[in-house]
Amino acid sequence: MTVPPALLSHESTEHYTPQYILAAVIACMGAIDLDPCSNSREIPNVPAARHYTVQENGLVQPWEDRIFLNPPFGHDVERWFSKLYLERSAGRTTEAIVLWKSATETAAWKTLTAISCRVCFPSARIRFIGPQGNDSGPTFSPALFYVGSRVKRFEEAFAEIGMVWVVPLTISLLSPHVA
Ligand SMILES: C[S@@+](CC[C@H](N)C(=O)[O-])C[C@H]1O[C@@H](n2cnc3c(N)ncnc32)[C@H](O)[C@@H]1O
Repeated sequence: MTVPPALLSHESTEHYTPQYILAAVIACMGAIDLDPCSNSREIPNVPAARHYTVQENGLVQPWEDRIFLNPPFGHDVERWFSKLYLERSAGRTTEAIVLWKSATETAAWKTLTAISCRVCFPSARIRFIGPQGNDSGPTFSPALFYVGSRVKRFEEAFAEIGMVWVVPLTISLLSPHVA
């Protein structure tokens, strides 16, 4: 029998963000206005004011105000970061934090670092949560990207999670390096 790829744990997109990361995100931005790729509108994992699920398709909706993005990982993940690039350029996204990974050789990394001014490299692997509250795969080196201008708040909020690196001005196009 052939197992559908989405049912293989390492290919599932259901890897929810642990609460200590969300607490740091809220400490930085004050609140989360939108989760553009949520597991559910009724019982969302991310405490955002608004959520788009696969039914609404977050990729075709406007992304307004403060965004937290933990995208469905996969070979086409870059389209989520291109979308953030467009929304930030258009001025709809005012601030964003993205949970992804250290994949410096990819187009996705290049798109993300073009809009970010800080990256936090956690000092420990992140244990994602599965739909049943269980530990959920993927095992990779995580990274958290900050898009916005309140860099001091990001640095303070993420100091206990890992080392915060500055994205060089020559790479970061859309996030002014101001406090
Ligand atoms: C990695 S999980 C993150 C869930 C949640 N945002 C969090 O951080 O805990 C990605 C979620 O995106 C949802 N998703 C997949 N494609 C989507 C789409 N086109 N629009 C909105 N959500 C989508 C999946 O159902 C999955 O729950």
